[in-house]
Amino acid sequence: MSQLLTSTTSTATDLYAVDAEGLYKSFGKAKAVNGIDLRIKPGEIVAFLGPNGAGKTTTIDMLLGLSKPDQGSVTVYGKSPRQAIAHGQVSAVMQTGGLLKDLTVRETVELTASLFAEARPAEECLERAGIKDIGDRLVVKCSGGQQQRLRFAMALVSDPGLLILDEPTTGMDVEGRRDFWNAIHTDARRGRTVIFATHYLDEADAYADRIILVRRGQIVADGTSAEIKALASGRTVKASVSDLEQTAVAALPGVDEVELRAGMVTVHTKDSDAVARYLLNHTDAHDLEITSHNLEDAFLALTSDEN
Ligand SMILES: Nc1ncnc2c1ncn2[C@@H]1O[C@H](COP(=O)(O)OP(=O)(O)O)[C@@H](O)[C@H]1O
Ligand SMILES: [Mg+2]
Repeated sequence: MSQLLTSTTSTATDLYAVDAEGLYKSFGKAKAVNGIDLRIKPGEIVAFLGPNGAGKTTTIDMLLGLSKPDQGSVTVYGKSPRQAIAHGQVSAVMQTGGLLKDLTVRETVELTASLFAEARPAEECLERAGIKDIGDRLVVKCSGGQQQRLRFAMALVSDPGLLILDEPTTGMDVEGRRDFWNAIHTDARRGRTVIFATHYLDEADAYADRIILVRRGQIVADGTSAEIKALASGRTVKASVSDLEQTAVAALPGVDEVELRAGMVTVHTKDSDAVARYLLNHTDAHDLEITSHNLEDAFLALTSDEN
């Protein structure tokens, strides 16, 4: 029985939403994408997280067939990106462009729908994007966040299996970002695959099932946010101490770094128990504090140029 289940499952996931192998893309001397392999299953919500210039947009452009890799291959639902787009299986939400200021929100979606042989009703797209109540508003009167939700509504017209968003909330205020992501997330629960690029850690943490950290054109980590946090592994142990043999602490298993300053010792370690035990049993350490790293630390550790 379990074998039957396994084989059924593997057949169902054989067709990746995105399957990219050995992608390379240079602009002159800049190796924008320098060897990226990527497999994304249908239904995943994936964040490409990385600092500016990491290669997120270059990768996304290749997934969308907007540019060709120098090396490597991309398929989207088993097709070339352009074929997948022609079949309405992929839509993109870009940061700018594509909106006519003198139309209303509803007219914009209706116009988009008229371009497709098979389109979802405009009302349904407005509702899914959370902008049904502003259907009569002129585009020019919409806030940045509302315009992004309109682009989202336009992207939904072909009912694509895969939605790709490149830094969709840049420049939005906190409330606009929250409304935008709530609309995306509610929609994604129905099984749509979502890939979004962001340099906001909190956005990746809050809205993605899977985070792919990109740095200098390569994937440096790939996992759930909990897994990414664990990768920049370890904790920080701090304590007040008057006398300490720094080398003894440095020699404890799992210790990465020991710093002693102004009567305070700070230890970065993968084994905080061992450090705490040593400090409390063998030194006069007191006011001991253990903190785990947050996603921001993980992000900085994994994407900094010092690695
Ligand atoms: N059209 C282009 N011409 C020249 N260099 C480019 C071009 N597009 C991107 N780059 C360079 O490639 C690198 C990756 O850029 P990009 O993919 O836009 O990064 P991200 O989207 O992560 O900020 C950067 O160093 C950028 O300057
Ligand atoms: Mg970019």
